[in-house]
Amino acid sequence: MLNFDYQNPTRIVFGQGSTAKLARMVPQRARVLVLYGGGSVRSNGTLADVLDALKQNGQRYVAEFAGIEPNPTFETLMKAVQQVRQEQIDFLLAVGGGSVIDGTKFVAAAARLQDHEDPWSILETHGRVVQAAMPFGAVLTLPATGSEMNAGGVVTRAATQDKLSFSSRLLYPQFSVLDPVRTYSLPERQVANGVVDAFVHTMEQYLTYPVDARVQDRWAEGILRTLVEIGPDAVHKTDDYDTRANLVWSATMALNGLIGAGVPQDWATHMIGHELTALHGIDHGRTLAIVLPAVMQVRREAKRAKLLQYADRVWDIREGSEEERIDAAIAKTRAFFESLGVPTRLADYQLGAEAIDPIIAALDKHEMTQLGEKQDITLEISREILQAAL
Ligand code: NZQ
Ligand code: ZN
Repeated sequence: MLNFDYQNPTRIVFGQGSTAKLARMVPQRARVLVLYGGGSVRSNGTLADVLDALKQNGQRYVAEFAGIEPNPTFETLMKAVQQVRQEQIDFLLAVGGGSVIDGTKFVAAAARLQDHEDPWSILETHGRVVQAAMPFGAVLTLPATGSEMNAGGVVTRAATQDKLSFSSRLLYPQFSVLDPVRTYSLPERQVANGVVDAFVHTMEQYLTYPVDARVQDRWAEGILRTLVEIGPDAVHKTDDYDTRANLVWSATMALNGLIGAGVPQDWATHMIGHELTALHGIDHGRTLAIVLPAVMQVRREAKRAKLLQYADRVWDIREGSEEERIDAAIAKTRAFFESLGVPTRLADYQLGAEAIDPIIAALDKHEMTQLGEKQDITLEISREILQAAL
């Protein structure tokens, strides 16, 4: 096992009716800004419940910031930073999916930069410039990213199509409310995206090379098997509480740092996926469904031992030669994504070989030239991965 240093300070309040408990978590004297997206939380009643809970708490000042878009933009978020300053806000409450929570993290950091510091530097340095951040909490409505219990975020500069990630120990939510009932109003497509996102987060901290990290491996395999088991019901049954509860907790556990402590990690699928979203507007989860099977194929030598373990322990594939078992595991993974209604080929998104050069150029621009668990996924290998995804 590799050495690690792990601390996760986010308090999780889980279960039906948990929103009412906000009153105990938001500091009563704080001036609160509630941030949300394009209106789903308004139409499904979540926002009303949140505002109600704050009112019960006798909150003295509550303002709103609406309109954080999926793949939140720097441009929009800077308007929220301005509101924080103008209204002397001192606590942020994100109500929504990964985009709203990520956006709130950015606002929390940007509002505490020195006047001379450029807020975009938070992205350019992937969070290294963050020296202080506002306190914030979250009410999660979409199980997928794990943003509700991690310290990372992803923000896009619309003007330049740069989609970059950032993280800082200062950017864990103080608390997150996880009420599976809040997910009932999600369209099937978003639930499917969430299942894929959680699955791929787990894979990126698992499918590398063995380091005899038995607990982490079995946690990862447990999450993967759970997602395979519940995925179809999670997508097709809108109000099955236990299925949604298991989905929500799987997605949180997939990216709260626990399964990744002490093991090598390979985030190549995400980094290539971010460029696909920035250049072509493909949903985050869908980009991962395109890239992961191709990464498994192109990196089958480097990942051989873990691919065979994955085949055995996640898919019960034990017959045949090593090559056959690896092929079968890749095919099962692809078929799983497809069974959720998530297409796995670039062609399914009307993209052909001509799309590859601009993606490689963007990876180069963003210094994503040494990806993978051994930093040996060069631009040439990323190109092979994209070719395998056509
Ligand atoms: O904007 P509204 O109207 O709220 O609608 C949203 C949005 O259109 C809707 N939605 C959310 N909850 C809903 C709902 N609709 C009905 N009922 C509900 N309960 O769903 C749409 C997508 O929301 P979004 O927040 O964009 O989705 P997701 O949670 O998948 O977040 C994606 C973003 O997170 C980043 C991605 O790159 C992307 O920008 N990621 C963040 C990570 C992190 N912080 O650790 C890791 C991930 O790998 C990922 O990169
Ligand atoms: Zn993701």
